[in-house]
Amino acid sequence: MTSAACLAHLGHRVTGVDVDATKISSLSRGEIPIAEPGLGALVAEGLSEGRLAFTTDPDALSRAEVVVLCVPTPTGPEGATELRAFDAAVGSLAEVLDPDCVVAVKSTVPVGTTTRTERLLGRPAVSNPEFLREGHAVHDFLHPDRIVVGATDPTAADLVTALYDGVAAPVLRTDPASAELAKYASNAFLAVKVSYVNVLAELCERLGADIVDVARVMGLDPRIGSAFLAPGPGWGGSCLPKDTRALLHTADEAGVDFALLADTVAANRHQHERVVTKVRQAVTGATDGCLDGLRLGLLGLTFKAGTDDVRASPALAVATRLAEAGAVLTGYDPGIDRDRVAGVVQVVDDVTLVAKDAAGLVVLTEWPEFHDLDWALLAALSERATIVDTRNLLDPELLERAGFAYHGLGR
Ligand code: UGA
Repeated sequence: MTSAACLAHLGHRVTGVDVDATKISSLSRGEIPIAEPGLGALVAEGLSEGRLAFTTDPDALSRAEVVVLCVPTPTGPEGATELRAFDAAVGSLAEVLDPDCVVAVKSTVPVGTTTRTERLLGRPAVSNPEFLREGHAVHDFLHPDRIVVGATDPTAADLVTALYDGVAAPVLRTDPASAELAKYASNAFLAVKVSYVNVLAELCERLGADIVDVARVMGLDPRIGSAFLAPGPGWGGSCLPKDTRALLHTADEAGVDFALLADTVAANRHQHERVVTKVRQAVTGATDGCLDGLRLGLLGLTFKAGTDDVRASPALAVATRLAEAGAVLTGYDPGIDRDRVAGVVQVVDDVTLVAKDAAGLVVLTEWPEFHDLDWALLAALSERATIVDTRNLLDPELLERAGFAYHGLGR
């Protein structure tokens, strides 16, 4: 969706093909099924200027010079990448493509998939991974840090590179295997960075140090960089968990011991537990205190702010553990509708309902909107006016003035 709209914006004539008829008909009407800033405007622009169309008919690809594959590639239960949808898409291309058409693989795929696609289709395929953050996808497409083109055929590489004419970013040309691996390596490295800072935050609490200051000092070293050094309830979403597991699986199959990455995944699970222990401590006064029957209010349920996505959300992983401990959970999130999250959390549209009679509040997603809540009112409504801020989002002094006992993470 994002790639189609952005490529049309760059001046190409783009047809988006998908097997999901509902998605195609809403996109054809200019309706976007996900929350992604700027995407609606680009789809509307492409549709009205006649450069963008959507269809379920693969024959529409028969005159394409380049086919860009953006098919989802989830991780299976053993950590291996599930390529069924990808392979089905490749299979449907075989019959329709023009002999000179080049295939660009944007899906995150295991090393070797682009070469296999090339062999299957009997034409050049190019690995062209994308690095788009949810909530910033349009911006990241049009202003990328790098454009990666992994190909063995130089003419095909030129054609894919030309898709990005007008985009100011370094183009890295490499072989398909390196391009494919670079995508997994980047996401897994981000996971390592967040797990590293999450464990450091625990150490800070034991030693009386402040993780915010420690991370600030580290981040000013350009070799480290300040991004992805904010502790939280763990890393989640539809990409980091899937890609770390897939890279671990790849390493395993290749006979390489990637214990560092396995520990990163374990540290993330530990982080969910640690937040639960912290909530127990804050609300009951003891790390093994009983949460059974206590009302807790959760602020934020999405895997990060600025999205409506709750897939593999650390907030929900924490919520599940709190519910297992007997807590009664109410949740509020400015990004999602009430009916989106069923199960362990009763989702409400009114934030005061989250605080009402709560033994504690837990901030799990870093929505900037939370700064502007009426904290004095929320404290007055709460039973115990205790707050655990797992994102270190709020100003501790302001919260304490409002009447809360404030607990940050790693400080
Ligand atoms: C991630 C990558 O950042 C993109 O570069 C990549 O293109 C994308 O996956 C993908 O493969 O398509 P995204 O899934 O949108 O993007 O999520 P991130 O912004 O990377 O955040 C991942 C998780 O780490 C979130 O749960 C976030 O809250 C957490 N995080 C991030 C922290 O806990 N602390 C930080 O300092 C940064």
